[in-house]
Amino acid sequence: MSSLPPSVSNLVLIGFMGTGKSSVGREIAHRCALRFVDSDSLIRKRFSKSIAEIFALIGEAAFRDEEHRCLLELQGAQQLVLATGGGIVMQRRNHPLLRQLGPIIWLTATEEVIWERVSRNRSRPLLHSDDPRATIRNLIKQRYPLYDLLADITVETTGLTHHQVADCIINAASDWSGRSNEECD
Ligand code: S3P
Repeated sequence: MSSLPPSVSNLVLIGFMGTGKSSVGREIAHRCALRFVDSDSLIRKRFSKSIAEIFALIGEAAFRDEEHRCLLELQGAQQLVLATGGGIVMQRRNHPLLRQLGPIIWLTATEEVIWERVSRNRSRPLLHSDDPRATIRNLIKQRYPLYDLLADITVETTGLTHHQVADCIINAASDWSGRSNEECD
């Protein structure tokens, strides 16, 4: 059993589709006896539909409102690991809500690795385009500066197993907590 320092109330995972946020988040939660929450799952449960069906039903803008609503509802929560959808950083109104939950961990990977991981399944509606590879390239260009802006901790996941990424995050969260306490002194 691993544990996080008491000053870390939650962990927030951000990053592009296919960087392993849900799998890694679930593993950290299990190892540290924390609750695991996934914003996409919350939305899926709300509609009893898949993300692709929800996009088709209400459109992307309303989906983004649902993501924002998840973050509002989670404010004040403790002892959880939150995996977010890759587009959550696109709305500035989400930034303070993400920050208030706890340290933000950016899981990153190269475009090639992301392509290799996401092209295996058709569950992501944003990639149902004529040229999904170009869509990924464009979204990476828009989003990486925002992930970078928000991240307290960055983990390059290329070549690492989910277990190794979880190890990195648990160690980095302890270091981060030490540093942020020093900054408060
Ligand atoms: C999205 C990422 C997806 C899901 C939706 C939109 C995005 O989540 O929220 O398909 O805009 O990048 P994952 O990052 O878990 O794939």
